[in-house]
Amino acid sequence: MSTTTDTSGRTGAGRATIAARTLRTDRWWLPPLATFVAFVAWVAYATVRAFMQEYYFVSEYGYLTPFYSPCVSVGCVEGSSHFGTFLPDVWWLPYAAVSLPFLLLFRLTCYYYRKAYYRAFWLSPPACAVAEPHARYTGETRFPLILQNAHRYFFYLAAIVTLVNTYDAVLAFAKPGGGFGLGLGNIILVANVVLLWGYTASCHSCRSAVGGRLNHFSRHPVRYKMWTFVSKLNTRHSQYAWATLASLAITDFYVMAVSAGWISDLRIVG
Ligand code: FES
Repeated sequence: MSTTTDTSGRTGAGRATIAARTLRTDRWWLPPLATFVAFVAWVAYATVRAFMQEYYFVSEYGYLTPFYSPCVSVGCVEGSSHFGTFLPDVWWLPYAAVSLPFLLLFRLTCYYYRKAYYRAFWLSPPACAVAEPHARYTGETRFPLILQNAHRYFFYLAAIVTLVNTYDAVLAFAKPGGGFGLGLGNIILVANVVLLWGYTASCHSCRSAVGGRLNHFSRHPVRYKMWTFVSKLNTRHSQYAWATLASLAITDFYVMAVSAGWISDLRIVG
């Protein structure tokens, strides 16, 4: 078979001589385009909200949006801070500046998101069996992409933040004035946390942490059980990735809407 140079300038031993960039006739461009639009919209929304420094806490019911958790700025309104306040209140510093960068890095280095944004933003490649426009491919073997290997460390930090979010959600059942309260906001906060655990626990690094480096599963029955459980979750990791983007935005928007007085919380108890 001949060695050819395709339209993107790449050579490949054993490649068939095909001049077209792709022979696919379906709408292969739709998934990367949808991913691009969704990511841009989500990042724009999250950025605005992180810097808004308003409408992040419903003092009446103890609802705190995950975008401001933990709230550690001296500007945090009364009752919203569960772990002390020590960051200065300046416009360029999000109130949850101790967690947001790690959550961002956790998602940015996530195996699934990498695939999604490599395709949608770098077109590398845009889809299966569609040639990419880049002439060279070095994978993740060099700076800066070699830093993607730090994902396993961000996993541990993100797990801690998910614990904090869980604490917030549980705390919101206790009304600040005393007594138990239950509203639609509580249900949304809990649903978000459940999905966040699904995303965090289904992480490839989590799977490796619980079941990696074992030569004999039979000698580690507990870790084997955990690994089996995480492996099952792992098959749905991409779904959790999207579901949590949606649940985070919905939770934040709901807290903002109630906090701003646009809507009232639907109360079930208290
Ligand atoms: Fe996606 Fe770890 S969070 S692979």
